[in-house]
Amino acid sequence: MTSSFLYLSALLLAIIASVSAQTFTDCNPLNKTCPAAPALGTNHTWVFNQTQDDKIWNITTGEIQYDDEGAHLVIAEKLQSPTMQSTFHIFFGIVETHVKMAAGAGIVSSVVLQSADLDEIDWEWVGSNTGEVQSNYYGKGDDSTYDRGGYHAVANADTEFHNYTTHWTAEKTEWWIDNNLVRTLTFDEAQNGTRYPQTPSNVRIGIWPAGDSGNNHGTIEWAGGEVDYDAGPYTMVVQSCRVHDFHTGKEYEYGDHSGTWESINVVDGNSTAVEEINKPPEKSLSEKWDEIPNGGKIGVYVGAAAVGAMLIALFIFFCIRKRRQGRLEHALGDAQYNTERTEMNNFQSDWKQSEWNHKGGYQQVR
Ligand SMILES: *[C@@H]1O[C@H](CO)[C@@H](O)[C@H](O)[C@H]1NC(C)=O
Ligand SMILES: *[C@@H]1O[C@H](CO)[C@@H](O)[C@H](O)[C@H]1NC(C)=O
Ligand SMILES: *[C@@H]1O[C@H](CO)[C@@H](O)[C@H](O)[C@H]1NC(C)=O
Ligand SMILES: *[C@@H]1O[C@H](CO)[C@@H](O)[C@H](O)[C@H]1NC(C)=O
Ligand SMILES: *[C@@H]1O[C@H](CO)[C@@H](O)[C@H](O)[C@H]1NC(C)=O
Ligand SMILES: *[C@@H]1O[C@H](CO)[C@@H](O)[C@H](O)[C@H]1NC(C)=O
Ligand SMILES: *[C@@H]1O[C@H](CO)[C@@H](O)[C@H](O)[C@H]1NC(C)=O
Repeated sequence: MTSSFLYLSALLLAIIASVSAQTFTDCNPLNKTCPAAPALGTNHTWVFNQTQDDKIWNITTGEIQYDDEGAHLVIAEKLQSPTMQSTFHIFFGIVETHVKMAAGAGIVSSVVLQSADLDEIDWEWVGSNTGEVQSNYYGKGDDSTYDRGGYHAVANADTEFHNYTTHWTAEKTEWWIDNNLVRTLTFDEAQNGTRYPQTPSNVRIGIWPAGDSGNNHGTIEWAGGEVDYDAGPYTMVVQSCRVHDFHTGKEYEYGDHSGTWESINVVDGNSTAVEEINKPPEKSLSEKWDEIPNGGKIGVYVGAAAVGAMLIALFIFFCIRKRRQGRLEHALGDAQYNTERTEMNNFQSDWKQSEWNHKGGYQQVR
């Protein structure tokens, strides 16, 4: 009874977490005074063939595996939803990802640009249809209209990488597939701009079981049916991601609670992301050694020799001490042996002697 209740609670929490992960924001600048959003401030391509710098790509849920092909986002068990999120934000720009969607009813792969006030530009692949990708957008999290989604044909989206590129400016947003423009949204088209995505956004790449039996009927239907976990694992692969921030700077400040692009202040400076990107890679020991100038190397040799000599001296010292100790222990050992032998002798002889003799003998040895 209690354990099944706990299980259900855990399940419910997991479901809530996985669904709200898509729209969660720590601090909504529309309602609160929020810290500035760290910027990217440059144009950079990440090849996901190896573990990424977690100061740039934060894995917010689950685990991600990397190999020569790219980042693998895998659903192998109920309610898994691995997600990576850029710590940087762009204030208009380009996001180019090369993706193989995960096939399978109920499984949704996504590449999303999202801001703290819930502006959002999406690519979404619904696993039941491997010949299509959906485009979508939200302004200020408003999902009250049903005219936002777009549907675009792509061949073999689950077995071939395709180039999905978002080109985002204050005037319009474009969705490109393999160099073909498939959709344009202008500022005015989004309720005269009031629902146009226009605030600094980060990049979120994820896979989630939208068709989990715990989700609401509408979501399951949109996801192409219920997830069959036994038929998994389901894998989305992302080969690379190029992000070009159209502003350069350190961070983006929210000037007021309007949520308009005009209210955003670009703060000058080098972004943390740029510093991380330009950070020299961790050097191996031999590389570090090669870099030391010859004078320094002599110093190291002399130092090493000194340390070596000291170690040898210490070693000798300990050996001598050990030997002395050994002799001492041996002497002590002999003494002890003699004592014990005497006691035993006494005991053994006492065993056959009178009580008085035993005690007397014992006390004598003592
Ligand atoms: C923030 O304010 C908007 C209106 O400006 C409102 O619709 C929304 O529910 C509020 N969100 C939160 C998290 O308070
Ligand atoms: C951005 O970087 C890509 C390589 O990552 C390069 O091909 C492209 O020309 C760059 N674009 C600009 C405008 O610098
Ligand atoms: C990953 O790809 C980059 C660029 O193509 C290359 O320089 C690097 O050596 C690759 N790393 C691994 C581990 O294959
Ligand atoms: C990374 O994500 C975790 C989980 O959402 C969060 O607690 C943490 O603050 C994030 N780290 C950064 C540097 O954004
Ligand atoms: C991906 O598509 C975008 C938009 O068409 C284009 O600018 C970019 O060069 C393409 N990338 C590659 C590697 O072809
Ligand atoms: C759209 O916004 C502009 C200025 O922001 C305003 O002049 C115009 O009347 C608005 N149009 C509609 C249909 O609301
Ligand atoms: C930004 O970095 C460059 C070198 O990468 C440096 O010369 C410059 O002083 C830095 N600017 C700030 C504001 O720290």
